[in-house]
Amino acid sequence: MKISGKTKVCCVVGDPIEHSLSPLIHNAAFRHLKLDFVYVTFRVKKEELEDAVRGVRALKIHGLNVTMPHKTAIIKYLDEIDQTAKAIGAVNTVLNADGKLIGFNTDGVGALNALKNNQVELRGKKLLLLGAGGAAKTIAFHLAPEVEEFRILNRTGKKARQLASFLQENFSKKVMGDTLSSSLLKEWLKDADILINATSVGMHPHSDQTLVKREWLRPELAVMDIVYNPLETRLIRDAKAVGAKVVYGTEMLVYQGAASFEIWCGRPAPVEVMREAILKNLKEAGIAS
Ligand SMILES: NC(=O)c1ccc[n+]([C@@H]2O[C@H](COP(=O)([O-])OP(=O)(O)OC[C@H]3O[C@@H](n4cnc5c(N)ncnc54)[C@H](OP(=O)(O)O)[C@@H]3O)[C@@H](O)[C@H]2O)c1
Repeated sequence: MKISGKTKVCCVVGDPIEHSLSPLIHNAAFRHLKLDFVYVTFRVKKEELEDAVRGVRALKIHGLNVTMPHKTAIIKYLDEIDQTAKAIGAVNTVLNADGKLIGFNTDGVGALNALKNNQVELRGKKLLLLGAGGAAKTIAFHLAPEVEEFRILNRTGKKARQLASFLQENFSKKVMGDTLSSSLLKEWLKDADILINATSVGMHPHSDQTLVKREWLRPELAVMDIVYNPLETRLIRDAKAVGAKVVYGTEMLVYQGAASFEIWCGRPAPVEVMREAILKNLKEAGIAS
């Protein structure tokens, strides 16, 4: 990668940020397409966000990813927010369009494209979503309009019910939300076609944990776990063992990154190159085999 006076800079801001896989996937994509772009990370504390956005303007940084804890807080410092990011109340991508900072959210479209590109049919299907946190909300906003029936279970039941009402208001579709319990999960799973884990359960270092018992899974189910560390979560292992279709968390990561790339570069992202970069890194770190 040759840095010149014309090189465009993209970056991610968050705290912590050292673990981010985004530099890896975007620099691999820039290199592959021989684009004069570079991607770096900046650790920005909560109280430094306003200054950081001023810096983005002054330094004419071309594109920005935004991660915890700034996804909502950044909105007030931007010039324009696209409709989806506004509805969700969270931004993960910013484009600097000749000085105008425009906010987007690509997490949900990442999940949608991960399912579609892994041949998971959504039309006419019943989807059960576990979780009602930041990622779950974004995913729900993109998937609810696509499926026949949408149900949400969350440890904090109030959040599941609030998310269900939010989806009903936006899509005039029947959505049910309730408190996560083993009995309700087992019951709702019986006639679900697609199961998505959007909780952090199963994430390193608690990789032996799962909310779903193996005997509740069926071969006809499609199971996506958005946790990507480890690559093969216990839920994914169990789903594979019963013969269910599985979609890895890295797929969502790849497709949300691809959507950000396309916003900044205005051309299709080299998805395969981005996927390879992530898998190589996870293998080297012993997170995938
Ligand atoms: N693949 C990707 O591209 C991608 C993108 C974003 C996030 N992620 C992953 O998705 C996970 C969630 O991220 P987030 O940003 O949505 O976090 P978040 O906003 O903090 O939400 C966490 C969710 O997990 C639930 N939860 C946590 N511990 C639980 C437990 N012991 N039992 C049951 N539920 C539990 C929470 O329930 P309560 O509401 O009751 O607390 C909440 O629904 C993380 O592992 C993150 O790394 C992956």
